[in-house]
Amino acid sequence: MSADPGRDGSATRPEELLAELAAVRSAAVAGRETHVGFPVATDIDYSPLAPLFGSLLNNIGDPWTDPAGANHTKRYEREVLDWFADLFQAPVDDRWGYLTSGGTEGNLYALYLARARFPKALVYHSADAHYSLPKCVDILGLDSVVVRTDERGEMDYDDLARMVDRHRDRPAIVVATCGTTMTEAADDVPRIRRLLARTPVRHHLHVDGALAGVPLALADGRATLRLDATVDSISISGYKFLGTPVPCGVVLTRRTLQQQLARSPNYTGTVDTTISGSRSGHPALLLWYAIRSLGHHGLRERAERARELAAYAVERLKEVGWPAWRHEHAFTVVFPTPSPAVTAKWVLASSAGRSHLICMPGVTREAVDAFVADVVATGGALVDALPRQRERQALVR
Ligand SMILES: Cc1ncc(COP(=O)(O)O)c(C=O)c1O
Repeated sequence: MSADPGRDGSATRPEELLAELAAVRSAAVAGRETHVGFPVATDIDYSPLAPLFGSLLNNIGDPWTDPAGANHTKRYEREVLDWFADLFQAPVDDRWGYLTSGGTEGNLYALYLARARFPKALVYHSADAHYSLPKCVDILGLDSVVVRTDERGEMDYDDLARMVDRHRDRPAIVVATCGTTMTEAADDVPRIRRLLARTPVRHHLHVDGALAGVPLALADGRATLRLDATVDSISISGYKFLGTPVPCGVVLTRRTLQQQLARSPNYTGTVDTTISGSRSGHPALLLWYAIRSLGHHGLRERAERARELAAYAVERLKEVGWPAWRHEHAFTVVFPTPSPAVTAKWVLASSAGRSHLICMPGVTREAVDAFVADVVATGGALVDALPRQRERQALVR
């Protein structure tokens, strides 16, 4: 039998539990400064919502059908969905969506809907698409084609055109990524739509905008993510740019498409149109709080400041001889993986000799300077990186 406290079934004293929870909290806060490899904003203070975490809030079923009782936040969910639908210029009389558990569920829902539209369709996603895409393809028993990308992570549109043409006897479910996981590349959605419009192939165009969907849509003059004739569905992660303290996401489509999956009300008084039945009602309040307290202007400013910091990080790294780059719109800064001494201290995302840090809102200039100083202090690592010459040449622009 284990001697771990609590494992023998006895109750643990409240002060011990509180001490343990305090330690968990301190560790999470203390690690923030060096946790720069994953796209989670940390600048929004959600603590005013803490008292609401004492109750179950269950947004079971469709956002537009309220369950009995008051322990749900569907009114706020609808407001949040409308905010996102406005941002993506969805037609006022033809929009639908729901708050998901995260980006993966949004992708799963979108592919599920697209399969209902086109049961024999092939899914096309790029080689740099998120790992949830092959998983969703597998869950839904679909077939897929992996489209090539360039060395900076953007889809190769000629390859997509060739593949769609090769399989023109089958409808296409095309997934564009706005903010790939490793380089934050944004596939050119209008270009994909034009390409598809030139073929006789019936199609559904889904955008996985987990990270960059909202910041791109907020940027002035960007109308690339329009949920009308341009895009059929969009999935967003709620805890990335908006930094909610619990994972959540948004999936949006048009109501006329969603009706492919129409259901009747059940014993809960709601309609089962979502992947999960019971859904937490807390994300609706968190997202509502973020968008109401910051407004478009505040949110846009956060995105601009994050881009400025990313540009600064690129310059600082290049100054010290560490070849870094970023996409013009991106918060993500890509560079050859530094020495193990650096990666032991800084939580970066690394793959195949490349790493990135992401200047999400909440990352400071001081943190970037400290990171660059650590790269310099372990100067031998630059030499270690030299055998990867071919890759480094590919990284320098
Ligand atoms: C492009 C992209 N899509 C989907 C996801 C999946 O999001 P989640 O982890 O919320 O399911 C991520 C998460 O990193 C992502 O970067």
